[in-house]
Amino acid sequence: MSKNNPIIEVKNLVKDFPINANSLKKNYMRALNDVSFTLYKGRALAIVGESGSGKSTSAKIIAKMYSRTQGIVQYHGRDIDDFTQKQELMEYRESVQMIFQDPFGSLNPTHTIFHHLARPLLLHKKVTNKAELPERIYSLLERVGLTPAKETAEKFPHQLSGGQRQRVNIARNLAVEAEVILADEPTSMLDVSIRLGVLNLMEDMKDDGISMMYITHDIATARYLAEDIGVMYVGHLVEWGEVDEVLQKPAHPYTQLLMSAVPNPEKSIHDNLEGGRKGEIPLWTPESIGCPFAGRCLQAMDKCTDALPEPKEVAPNHFVRCFLHD
Ligand SMILES: Nc1ncnc2c1ncn2[C@@H]1O[C@H](COP(=O)(O)OP(=O)(O)OP(=O)(O)O)[C@@H](O)[C@H]1O
Ligand SMILES: [Mg+2]
Repeated sequence: MSKNNPIIEVKNLVKDFPINANSLKKNYMRALNDVSFTLYKGRALAIVGESGSGKSTSAKIIAKMYSRTQGIVQYHGRDIDDFTQKQELMEYRESVQMIFQDPFGSLNPTHTIFHHLARPLLLHKKVTNKAELPERIYSLLERVGLTPAKETAEKFPHQLSGGQRQRVNIARNLAVEAEVILADEPTSMLDVSIRLGVLNLMEDMKDDGISMMYITHDIATARYLAEDIGVMYVGHLVEWGEVDEVLQKPAHPYTQLLMSAVPNPEKSIHDNLEGGRKGEIPLWTPESIGCPFAGRCLQAMDKCTDALPEPKEVAPNHFVRCFLHD
């Protein structure tokens, strides 16, 4: 789908977390620094990067699980911090849903699958009459491939596999007619053999017009599912654009390192980078300056430690933050 329908716009987001809570002077680490991106209707943005680069923090700020330090998140042009009325907040939480890595964590072991789907349908008034519930729930279960639906509905979460549980989570998002899905490594805890099924369901959701953020360590699935990609390093979005363009012509030395270190697409970024270049991952603070990758970058110049490069458009819709492209 084309990029003419922005749903979520993240602009210049900054997030500081307190560290050393015991010391007298309060210190902070900067988990996100000047991060901007847009989620469009019917498109998926993959966010890739090493552990601790700020991927989940970005999603959690959009989901209103974390506050922001600076910057703005807009939903259909409105600042999400302006949603303070109970009704508005509920509508936002209904429209913007997160899918987590652990499909078990978000299910209640004491309730049936039927209950897990009935609750959001009733809470968000998607059915007016309880008698409509079975039919609605069975059709949701069929849509996510959990058949026979009636038997699945009677089961408890522990009676399902990891992949089936993730499908229940997806059915819940469909139940409330979510408009935006923030999927935080949704398949990383699943067996390789069942990952593709869950990815295909996410692809279907996107084709139905849902706007998606897909956080992953796996560049191969990013390419499979997403139209757009953003590469994060230590709280900074260092390169972003259309997925084929960025992966075929990576412009930032960090993205190039990621790509060169992925001879095996089955492996995660972490596994692959271990064999890569040595270098400390810096702790970023509100006082830090320069490019966060400078210490690990073979092409670093003096100015790289003095200032953070501004984003440059190196090709249509392909942006990079790097002085090599000045
Ligand atoms: N609630 C919190 N309190 C304090 N620090 C936090 C909190 N959440 C995240 N951080 C810190 O912010 C940084 C970014 O974390 P985040 O979870 O966003 O990384 P990530 O890219 O999702 O990593 P991973 O790939 O391991 O999931 C990390 O240094 C982390 O320790
Ligand atoms: Mg994370």
